[in-house]
Order: sequence, then structure tokens, then C-alpha cells
Amino acid sequence: MFAALGGAEGGAALLVFGATHASRNGDSEYRYRQSSDLWYLSGWEDPESAVLLRPGADHPFVMFVQAKDRSREVWTGFRAGVEGARGTFGADAAFPWSELGARLPELLAGWSTLHYAWGEDGERDRTVFRALSGLGRVASRNGLAMPHQLVDARRLLGELRLFKDPAEVALLRRAADITAEAHVAAMRLGRPGVAEYEVEAEIDGLFRRRGGNGPGYTTIVGGGTNACVLHYITNREPLRAGDLCLVDAGCEYANYTADVTRTWPVSGRFSTPQRRLYEIVLASQLAAIDAARAGRPYKAMHDAAVRVLTEGMVAVGLLEGDVDTLILEEDFRRYYMHGTGHWLGLDVHDAGAYHLSGTSRLLEPGMVVTVEPGLYVAPDDARAPEAYRGIGIRIEDDILVTDGEPDVLTAACPKSVKDVEAACGG
Ligand code: GLY
Ligand code: MN
Ligand code: MN
Repeated sequence: MFAALGGAEGGAALLVFGATHASRNGDSEYRYRQSSDLWYLSGWEDPESAVLLRPGADHPFVMFVQAKDRSREVWTGFRAGVEGARGTFGADAAFPWSELGARLPELLAGWSTLHYAWGEDGERDRTVFRALSGLGRVASRNGLAMPHQLVDARRLLGELRLFKDPAEVALLRRAADITAEAHVAAMRLGRPGVAEYEVEAEIDGLFRRRGGNGPGYTTIVGGGTNACVLHYITNREPLRAGDLCLVDAGCEYANYTADVTRTWPVSGRFSTPQRRLYEIVLASQLAAIDAARAGRPYKAMHDAAVRVLTEGMVAVGLLEGDVDTLILEEDFRRYYMHGTGHWLGLDVHDAGAYHLSGTSRLLEPGMVVTVEPGLYVAPDDARAPEAYRGIGIRIEDDILVTDGEPDVLTAACPKSVKDVEAACGG
């Protein structure tokens, strides 16, 4: 991290805040989940925290944390406090959170650039900008260097988080393994009359039983036409005989999340129209995964998926016309209206730029992406052959880009028609 910031005094400092603590209602709170950036830099878990990095300073790694407070610890548990920040977490200096505003100006004096992610929390922005403007007045009188350049910290942190080191890959593999097991359990449980929320409970429960934090995003269980709602999370209808069920669920393990979608037949066997569309989505997904190679542009995965999907849509009569023209005119979007994936890591839609200098960036070893094509035929789409109306299918896996073959972290999750039907007991 220090190397990324560059030089000593006169160079760049980085200020990152922890997540704000959300109350659910009354005295009830959501479980706290640290901001991915602060976790990435420090491993610190408690609320009310900030990390300030000042490469080359006497105290380069500064933390602001909740002070120890015996009466509060009775309610919410152990706090590492400023002592823990220094002793266990290796901070060169640590101060109580309540001193942030007062101490920031002196800590920022001497640095010409500040990396900070503004716009996420008004109160924090005010604290930071107040420190900068106060410092500015002193600096103009005394000739002191102060941050006169503000850089969006998300660029730097995104670039670092984009490349997963072996320890991060190991955590993503664990998240992927638990996720694959949960999808198999869902396929086994799913049958006519079982409610979408029961499938959700099976999946989320298994995430916790295996030591995960829970789902990395709200679990989607869409039976029948609910599968056509891309982020359906209501999950309250019964599964019906003859329908498909789309499940998009990923376990978060040690703050790293998997992101997997499987679509399976509630009655155990795909009908002919369902299987036809499923085979198209699967072929498009395999083509896109094959493009997840170092040296290929990020967008090659989407292009590969779109081509196979569009050819398939023409073959089954969802679209008519020349495949190249349908792609050029984006007619495929009638049934495939989202992108083919995203970076994956601490966040389900992880940090990192998709374009460099305006063009799709080239994939490199250590990047992790999802590949998730789908087909969604609205139930009331009068232009679609009747047999396909109301079918929604997505297939999503998590891929580590390597020097060689794409490494499918979620390969343990059944995907072929035969394997899915076997897992469903069909
Ligand atoms: N689960 C959200 C996504 O697939 O992007
Ligand atoms: Mn995804
Ligand atoms: Mn997903």
C-alpha cells in the first residue's frame, strides 16, 4: 500500500473510514460489517474507525478507533481500543475516534495529496473538509505544506483490491465451496409446494453452519416467472410443479463473497422448452468462461456470451434475422438485458476499474470475475413463442484468471442438465 502512495513528506496520504453502524429500529441494530476498504487495509472489525496512511512519516500507520469503555462493552462486547490498535493491529499511532476532527489537521500537515473517498457520508466529508480548510489557513500563513490535491481513494484501492493474493484466493475458494454445497442442498430440497423462503433458509443456514458470515448479498430464490425479475428477493411464493427455480446466492466467508446462480426444475426434470433455453445459456456461459484468460479484454466475455445467446435465440424463434445485425442493434437485449459479470472479492460487485483510458482493460492473473449470462422471457411477451413465455434462466460461476486455463472456483456446483437433474432427484 505504501508503495502505491509513493513518496514521503510532500507526497500522498490516504484516509479510509470504516462503515457506519446502522440501526434497524428502536434499540435494535444490524450486525456490523466493516467497510471492505478498511478491512482490506487493517483487518479491524469494530465500528467508528479510520485508517490514515502517511508513507515516510515517523508514524506512517495511524488508526482512529472506539476507545475502551467498560460500560459499553457490557452491552456490545470487547473493544480492542487504542491499545489493541497499537499492540495487535500494528498501528504506529492510535487515537480515540472522538479525537479525529481535532487531530486530522496536524496529521495531514506536510502531505501535498490526500486520497479520500468523498461523497459516501456527509458527516465524514464535513470533518475532512473542515480539517483541510483549517489547515489551509495555517499553511498559507506559515508556508506549511498541506494537501492541495484531493484524489478519489477508490481508484487506488480498487486497483489494489482487483488483484487477489494467494491468501485472498484461499478465502474465495472456501466461500465458493460452501456456496456450491448450499446450491446442491437447495436443489435437493426444492419440490412442488416448498416455499421460496424455505429454499432461502436452507441456503443461508448452511452458509452460517459452515462458519460463513451469511449471504454476501440478499439471496434470490425465484420460482417460475419470478426468475424473470433480475433481483427478486421477496422469496415468499410456493414452488410450483413444472416450473424452474432460479437461485442466486453466495456465501460471504471472512468477508470474501462468492456469487453463484443455478436454475433447476422444481419437479426434477427440465421440460423440452426449458431444456432448450437452458442449453443455450449454458453454452453461452462456457464460451464466456473460455474468454476469461489473461491478455483478453474484459469485454470479450460479454461478447462471447452475447454471440452464443443470440444464435440460440434465433435458433428457437425468440428472435428473427441476421445474428450480426441483431448483435449490432442490440436486439438480444429483449431477452438478455444485463452484463455478463463483474469483479468479485470483498464486495459482490467488487472494486476495480473495468476500463483503462476508455477501453476495456485486459484481464490479468489474480483477477476474479463472475460469468453470468441468462435468458428471461417475460410471461406477457406476445412476440415470444408461447412455450418459452415466463421462463427465466441464469447460470453464474466465479472465475480466477490465471496464466493458463480459467480456474472455475465454483466448479463443484452441478451445471449440466444431467448433473442438475441428478441433484434435483429427477
Ligand atoms: N447477485 C448479484 C449479481 O449476480 O450480480
Ligand atoms: Mn453476479
Ligand atoms: Mn449473482
